[in-house]
Amino acid sequence: MPGVNVRNFSIIAHVDHGKSTLADRILEHLGAMGERDKRDQTLDTLELERERGITIKSTPVRLNYTRPNGEQYVFNLIDTPGHVDFGYEVSRSLAACEGVLLLVDASQGVEAQTIVNAYLAIDSGLTIIPVVNKIDLPAADPEGAAQELEEVVGIPAEDAIFASGKTGAGVPEILEAIVERIPPPPGDPQAPLKALIFDSFYDAYQGVILFVRVLEGTVRAKDAVTLFNTGKDFEVDKVGTFTPGLIVSDVLAAGSVGWIAAGIKDIQDAQVGDTVTSREHPTLEPFPGFKPAQPVVFSGLYPTDTEDYRKLREALERLKLNDAAFSFEPETSEALGFGFRCGFLGLLHAEIVQERLEREFDLDLIATAPAVIYRITLTNGEVIVTQNPAEFPTRDRIELVEEPYIKMSVMLPEEHVGPVMQLLQERRGSMVTMNYMGKRVELVYQVPFAEILYDFHDRLKSISRGYASMDYEIIDYREGDLQKVDIYVNGEIVDALAVIVHESKAYSLGRKVVDKMAEVIPRQMWAVPVQAAIGGKIIARATVKAFRKDVLAKCYGGDISRKKKLLSKQKKGKARMKQIGTVEVPQEAFLAVLSTD
Ligand code: GTP
Repeated sequence: MPGVNVRNFSIIAHVDHGKSTLADRILEHLGAMGERDKRDQTLDTLELERERGITIKSTPVRLNYTRPNGEQYVFNLIDTPGHVDFGYEVSRSLAACEGVLLLVDASQGVEAQTIVNAYLAIDSGLTIIPVVNKIDLPAADPEGAAQELEEVVGIPAEDAIFASGKTGAGVPEILEAIVERIPPPPGDPQAPLKALIFDSFYDAYQGVILFVRVLEGTVRAKDAVTLFNTGKDFEVDKVGTFTPGLIVSDVLAAGSVGWIAAGIKDIQDAQVGDTVTSREHPTLEPFPGFKPAQPVVFSGLYPTDTEDYRKLREALERLKLNDAAFSFEPETSEALGFGFRCGFLGLLHAEIVQERLEREFDLDLIATAPAVIYRITLTNGEVIVTQNPAEFPTRDRIELVEEPYIKMSVMLPEEHVGPVMQLLQERRGSMVTMNYMGKRVELVYQVPFAEILYDFHDRLKSISRGYASMDYEIIDYREGDLQKVDIYVNGEIVDALAVIVHESKAYSLGRKVVDKMAEVIPRQMWAVPVQAAIGGKIIARATVKAFRKDVLAKCYGGDISRKKKLLSKQKKGKARMKQIGTVEVPQEAFLAVLSTD
């Protein structure tokens, strides 16, 4: 029977609980990593990932395991992204497995994403192998962490394996547990093809490479296939497995994890969660739960140098080839000129895209404050959807505005509950439940999504001394008293600075933004007023003071090197500025709304 000696599994954990490090030890143990090309964290491929220490793209790897009794096994280890922005990708990666290693840092215990990931695994019907990791740390409390897992997620503490990705302790036990506890993949190789896409990337020569888990049937080169949800037809060029490089093979049969190249040119046609089936003998039911990638956070990206518009467009097109979740369309701002309105899965995704644009494509960008999608019913009955504050209709045209809400789960030590509840209250949150687990508490709240875009995570971390962790999902749209606050610089309205805010916060936000702007806009030869207004009525005002003296006047005549130094300093400061009327406005000003109170 095929698949009997195969095990498909994934490692899930809260951020930084040591997933990549442990995966490396496993690879090393199974001889998949020569000492020579051993680098830290082989599974994290993008350069940015390495620097930020987070897993963005899942990279599967096929491993050979020989048990102490001589039996041979094939393991497919599927890495999952470790951040809340990529929750859907995690769920699809899990759907490609029969089991997971659920890692918990022995010194930290259960965190918000431990719980969320554990429930994702439980919901997918997977076998969970609890692993208490980092037992080498002096502050480790392995029994305590195992006990927490039992209390919070209901996984028996005695099932836990104690391990360390650093020393390799526990790795042999983990490998045996994978064989013994995780079931072999089911599926009939004779049935019509049903393969789940759990990731993809774009290759300049072969087009899109689909990462698939074959659930039923078989697939080989020359097969005619259909993508179930997107409805497109393709002919398979090649199939293969991962080592983690791509190795060509003859066939992928039910139970396998591998890749398919089918000359797919557009990553939009190859959405994560879609099902690949045979054109002639299609499966009746696709794999359930397909969701097209949907951006939820939007922001404008503009080149600081208008000459770079075309370069930016090319960079966005290139980036989009590899990222189906990212969207962009041209937009024009009176203040910033020509740019793009871009959509992301979350704030981290937005930051990653912007950083990649600047680094890989050598662009200097101005990003506007992130915004969510609003649903607006106009007085004439028409319903419009917008994520651009600049396009918000005037108040007299609005009947009602609805905004997205999230369900948020926060895990934290008991002693910080008060301040965290207060923070959630300030963010217009309402409590759903509060669960005590020993000395720790899980708070579940419903909060407007927009409220967490601005400095929420930083505040949460600082008031909990770094101990609180959170996770969230968007649940629905609800009516809110929302208003547009306009910002004027030197008497001119700056469309790209407009923000949507709840009525109760409009004044304080206006104040905060103008103060921050007055602080970051460089002094000019004359005083520059910065104002916040609602519907033309000024609600806050600050002034960028004029220079007291010309900077260069000080060194008049004398010291030429000092003069040069000053000028070069000024030149450096010019980077990332945008000319608005006669005033140069730096990037920071566009994100003034994000600044911590
Ligand atoms: P994400 O990909 O962001 O989810 O992180 P991760 O879970 O893959 O964590 P990673 O493996 O990057 O480890 C996070 C940090 O913990 C790194 O600084 C590691 O060096 C450290 N670390 C990982 N495993 C161990 C361990 O067993 N013992 C000790 N002492 N440190 C560890």
